[in-house]
Amino acid sequence: MKKLFIFSLASATIVLASCGTGSQPPATGADTATTNTVPVTLPDPAAFHDSVDGQPTALYILKNKQISAAITNYGARVVSLLVPDQKGTPTDVVLGYDSIGKYIHQPDTYFGAVVGRYGNRIAKGRFKLDGKQYTLATNNAPNHLHGGNKGFDAVVWTGKQLSDTSLELTYLSKDGEEGYPGNLRVTVIYTLDSDALHVGYAATTDKPTVLNLTNHSYFNLNGQGSGTINNHVLQIFADRYTPVDSTLIPTGKIDSVGGTPFDFRQATAIGARVGDTGNIQIKYGKGYDHNFVLDPAPPVAGALSPRPAAIVRGDLSGIVLSITTDQPGIQFYGGNFLNGTNPLKAGKKDDYRSAFCLETQHYPDSPNEPSFPSTVLKPGEKYATWTYFRLSTK
Ligand code: GAL
Repeated sequence: MKKLFIFSLASATIVLASCGTGSQPPATGADTATTNTVPVTLPDPAAFHDSVDGQPTALYILKNKQISAAITNYGARVVSLLVPDQKGTPTDVVLGYDSIGKYIHQPDTYFGAVVGRYGNRIAKGRFKLDGKQYTLATNNAPNHLHGGNKGFDAVVWTGKQLSDTSLELTYLSKDGEEGYPGNLRVTVIYTLDSDALHVGYAATTDKPTVLNLTNHSYFNLNGQGSGTINNHVLQIFADRYTPVDSTLIPTGKIDSVGGTPFDFRQATAIGARVGDTGNIQIKYGKGYDHNFVLDPAPPVAGALSPRPAAIVRGDLSGIVLSITTDQPGIQFYGGNFLNGTNPLKAGKKDDYRSAFCLETQHYPDSPNEPSFPSTVLKPGEKYATWTYFRLSTK
């Protein structure tokens, strides 16, 4: 688990963003980036003491020399992630709220959450497993999204702080919850490891089911609420991606990124090609909202094979996020649905394209696409996956 791949952006070609924010008019203030001027701190845990569905909510703090994290058991959400920028100034690189009430009342963004049972979309809210048809909520009409009306992002997990740097969150998703079969016992462990946040996922079921867990943190490496991410420089280790239809369901084809705005094999500014609305995929996604097929993992004897997934650099902060995972795909979502209406921590706003998500996962709609890697979990099997988010200024 500790094997890390470290890549440098130094040798890569950097294509600078020349266009603004793309096809849609940005919300006020969204097309510029600013640095933080007020000291950044973690939210007050007292603002997270409440109860949802009779279960107590809380905020847990993890700290080591380099990183401080605040995580709530409501939706297993990363609320804050503080890391030093290139000048050593603490910078909160994830979008979030400063109280539990805001998470409960602004539910649709999935800020920082563990999404499940199925991260991303299942076409028309239907899938067949062992000959039986299952029907799910079409909460993102006409499709099912991120586990349904009340996915894992909107339930209270049982929290157990394991140490100053580690938090265990468990949840029992009952047979039939949101239409999915099987009692599913899920454990997520967040651990700070030197300059990284490690997220480990484990699950077992008592009936065959489908499962695709991911973390839905929204990053702005210049600091949450500091404007556009279009000048962040991104590299994705993927030769291929899964094109979608107009409702964001993969067509089943796996296409080369070559010659398209989806080619991030060389480090490129996020906004450099996002305005290319002549590209039908950019049009369907309203920008970037696509699953990339990560390049095959190098074999590692006797261990899960880690794969380098993506590296992003904040243009103003110099903070570099590098992601490694054992998952086969990564959903790159460029914050196209953000519109400045959600009140972030420290009085900031979640403007249009002021954050990105890189969700390590299986491909969307895999339960209906036999050619994609399977997301079926059977009784007796152990689901175990992980993702490393490394944050540095190198
Ligand atoms: C992403 C998804 C987007 C959007 C977003 C939440 O994972 O790909 O289409 O639903 O979550 O607003």
